[in-house]
Amino acid sequence: PRSIYLTRHGQSEYNSMQRLGGDSPLTEKGQKYAAALADFFEKEPVDGLRVWCSQKVRAAQTAQQLKNSAFHTEYWKALDEIDAGICEGLTYEDIQQRYPNQAEDRARDKYHYRYPSGESYEDVVSRLEPVIMELERQANVLVVSHQAVLRCILAYFYDLPLSGLPYIETPLHSLVKLTPRAYHCDSTVYTYDF
Ligand code: F6P
Repeated sequence: PRSIYLTRHGQSEYNSMQRLGGDSPLTEKGQKYAAALADFFEKEPVDGLRVWCSQKVRAAQTAQQLKNSAFHTEYWKALDEIDAGICEGLTYEDIQQRYPNQAEDRARDKYHYRYPSGESYEDVVSRLEPVIMELERQANVLVVSHQAVLRCILAYFYDLPLSGLPYIETPLHSLVKLTPRAYHCDSTVYTYDF
């Protein structure tokens, strides 16, 4: 059976400062995760793995070390993180202070809430449609992307309700292996503690 592997990028500088979005590089911990990921796929018996990565620096750096193993890598804009619009680069605390009404609206309906000049989870789900269609057709794929995007992909494969989608746990430095079966998906999570 084929498997779909899903991971967020390793810890980025913005992650370490609790800032949303941006395009910052990996921290030292994030680099360690990139190395651990490459090591995982050296050992995992997987045929012709395709690596699908977002176009953000932190995701590309996470996939970088896998290239040594000659896996085919593609960079998809559709895998980029949710665009937080006017809130890009802020922390949740900053948002609370600068845009309390936005924070409130988001808390009320996180799935449908759209950041001004940015996206909603609903928008991300629709831009992911072609990616998910391709994922359904492919053999072994590793997706290196971001928190909101992985939540959307997980909700699809686990068949979870949309209202809970924006709250699915997607910690950094963990790799999910999904193996689709006839009526469900088997899953295994590998967690690294850096
Ligand atoms: O904080 C990391 C991050 O990937 C942000 O770039 C993004 O806006 C956020 O997570 C998405 O998570 P939530 O929808 O819970 O704010």
